[in-house]
Amino acid sequence: MDRYCVFGNPIAHSKSPEIHAAFAAQTGQDLQYERRLAPLDGFADAVRAFMAEGGKGANVTVPFKLEAVKLAQALTIRARAAGAVNTLVFSDEGIIGDNTDGAGLVADIVRNAGVTITGKRVLLLGAGGAVRGVVLPLLEHRPARLVIANRTVAKAEELVQQFAALGGEGVVAASGFGEIEGEYDIIINGTAASLSAEVPPVSPSVFASGCLALDMMYGASPTVFLQFAAGHGAQLRDGLGMLVEQAAEAFQLWRGVQPATGEVLNNLRAKL
Ligand code: ATR
Repeated sequence: MDRYCVFGNPIAHSKSPEIHAAFAAQTGQDLQYERRLAPLDGFADAVRAFMAEGGKGANVTVPFKLEAVKLAQALTIRARAAGAVNTLVFSDEGIIGDNTDGAGLVADIVRNAGVTITGKRVLLLGAGGAVRGVVLPLLEHRPARLVIANRTVAKAEELVQQFAALGGEGVVAASGFGEIEGEYDIIINGTAASLSAEVPPVSPSVFASGCLALDMMYGASPTVFLQFAAGHGAQLRDGLGMLVEQAAEAFQLWRGVQPATGEVLNNLRAKL
């Protein structure tokens, strides 16, 4: 039986084993997927040990996504653009590092929410790793405009410089929260503010009529950002769909089979 795992620290909370077990059952794939707690100073050793045990691939979560970039012998374009790796494939040529987070977000918006990105005005809140990981996949869908707004504007400007060279020329722009101009069809919160029950201080005027508001965080009840967005008429999505879709992308990479995600997402939601 082929073996996969997710490395993190902590890792006990990870829903990935449950998601991949559901995908495997649904597609008839014979595989095992487990949680692996890697020591904070022992990520590379933990990966090598798993490979020696016959592991075929792995997911990588906090705090090892940057270290996984260094460990990989080859990176996909999207992993390089993200500066982070969340999926490892152990191949004959060595360790390949990929990043499925952005593709997961895009799949959740386009397939699950039924919202087209092409030609839309997109606002990304935050400029940390979570946001950097999703910019390229969003740009690939050719939004009319993609504004990255952050508390520390310089970090948003750095991202804009990077992605202008990667197809975002004339599309991406940076802003502080207080100076965001115009209204947006898709507003994505990729800041860590929801963790402390804070809302990025953006004007309600950013929410275009009928817009989609998505928070990369999730929980049993809507985040404060989603509550704020609901008050201004937005359609809401939390980060659970992105979580399931990034897993589906990894599963597809490893197994060559695209799992269906709807029921898996509903089952996870029911247990929150
Ligand atoms: P991650 O890898 O999860 O994105 P990160 O790199 O630490 O984590 O980035 C966290 C993001 O959340 C940053 O954009 C941060 O803003 P700064 O760059 O100004 O630090 C943002 N953030 C964290 N707490 C916030 C808060 N209370 N309000 C608004 N933005 C916040």
